[in-house]
Amino acid sequence: MAGTFETVGVVGLGTMGAGIAEVFARAGLAVTGVEADPAALERGRGHLEGSTGRALARGRLTEAERAEIIGRVTFTTSLEDLGDADLVIEAIPEVMDYKRALFTDLDRVCKPSAVLATNTSSLSVTAIAATTTRPGRVIGMHFFNPAPVMKLVEVVRTVTTDEGLADEVAGLARRLGKTPVTVGDRAGFVVNRLLLPYLNHAAALLENGLAGRDDIDAAMKLGVGLPMGPFALLDLIGLDTSYEICEVLFRETRDRRHAPAPVLRELVTAGLLGRKSGQGFHCPEEPQSPSPHEKPSAASIAVLGEDPGGFAAQLSGAGFKIVDVEDAELVVALSSTPVVEQAVRLPHPDRLVGLHLVGDQIAEVASTALTSPETARVAAGLLRILGRTPVPCKDRAEFVVDALLYPYLNDAVRMYESGYASVEDIDTAMKLGCGYPAGPFETLDRLGLATVRDGLRALYAEYREPSFAPAPLLDQLVTAGVRSIRDLSS
Ligand SMILES: NC(=O)c1ccc[n+]([C@@H]2O[C@H](COP(=O)([O-])OP(=O)(O)OC[C@H]3O[C@@H](n4cnc5c(N)ncnc54)[C@H](O)[C@@H]3O)[C@@H](O)[C@H]2O)c1
Repeated sequence: MAGTFETVGVVGLGTMGAGIAEVFARAGLAVTGVEADPAALERGRGHLEGSTGRALARGRLTEAERAEIIGRVTFTTSLEDLGDADLVIEAIPEVMDYKRALFTDLDRVCKPSAVLATNTSSLSVTAIAATTTRPGRVIGMHFFNPAPVMKLVEVVRTVTTDEGLADEVAGLARRLGKTPVTVGDRAGFVVNRLLLPYLNHAAALLENGLAGRDDIDAAMKLGVGLPMGPFALLDLIGLDTSYEICEVLFRETRDRRHAPAPVLRELVTAGLLGRKSGQGFHCPEEPQSPSPHEKPSAASIAVLGEDPGGFAAQLSGAGFKIVDVEDAELVVALSSTPVVEQAVRLPHPDRLVGLHLVGDQIAEVASTALTSPETARVAAGLLRILGRTPVPCKDRAEFVVDALLYPYLNDAVRMYESGYASVEDIDTAMKLGCGYPAGPFETLDRLGLATVRDGLRALYAEYREPSFAPAPLLDQLVTAGVRSIRDLSS
């Protein structure tokens, strides 16, 4: 059945549409790319030529194959050219009114058997379908950025989708070399429902001054192994698109955490949309701003708390003297919050920082309200000597990495608990849609359910954010001594 799709239309050749057109052309389908803005049309053409040109230079395509791919794509500004298409994918901005107007036009222009698909990240496919006379032939086909690289396609069926159409479209996705995950119509589907709250949370923490932009990016990249930090990813997705997705999520959930962080609105209003406008959270020309390298002057250090990694021994190995708290020029408290509770018991509270070693590449360095800037600088310097990237942050529950990671894991448990998607589909979607090294349930198993549950309790106690409270299922599994949700569901 999937073989019935031979001619496709792609409407909107921006960040996503240009890549989607390339994916179809590479799989041998004839593509008509429609773009309202003539300059964007030229950029779409340039994208195809550039991308296939790079593949040619790397020996991944021959000159003849490249010419064939380019020859399969026709560029136009007229929707009327889609009359013969078997399938049309819409990739215009994430605004419901624009999409509904476009689908009304597509319904008029396209042959009755044509399937009309939307690449929306979050909007209701059902509401889009309802503007047409063929709601049974309307479906979500959600690609990921960059479309030629990311393997996932979320196929979104609605209550009105024709029986069998989701399977046909999933078959088409496989023909494109993608892995489909089929789900029902809920704001954000699987990936954006889990991803955007995390990105928005990072923006909110930045606004609250928990840590700096580059430090948060480094923490998530080096500490968790994500392909990029949240601000680099927001810039890649586009801040306008991210803003709109958060709005849609908030409208459906009324969860404050989904309400777009004010900094997103400010940047979007200023026209700073991320990569597509040349500047967003990051500016491409701007060098990353690591904290200044300084050689620590403290020679005598005291280490408080559990020392699982033999941190004190590493410090002595690097030539630092380990001493009693009274004599120390620097005191580090390992892995316990709030750090300030320990600071107030010390003779020199200004000399204490909290230290959380994450993986083997980074360490969060938490300053309390009493920590002197000099102490924070010295602590960061000695971490560099030990080969770790310091992530300076405030003394707040779970610091940076876990504060961002645990609510995301909690959201995944809630999604599974709601029956929306299976554990396996959620793990697959996050790995193939975002390039994550592990899915949320694999990460939960690695960290331990009890550790994450306890971390969520600490976050809830500090921030009082209702959605930080551990999902009931997570709580129950810990109580029951179950070690893996993956075992439970298989
Ligand atoms: N950016 C991402 O990472 C990403 C990932 C997956 C899905 N999406 C979704 O894909 C869709 C497109 O997002 P984007 O980031 O590519 O947006 P974009 O702003 O980069 O591109 C949209 C393009 O559509 C064109 N356009 C607008 N109205 C049109 C019309 N009526 N007819 C033809 N062209 C029109 C615009 O000129 C623009 O070139 C959105 O629904 C978004 O949520 C985005």
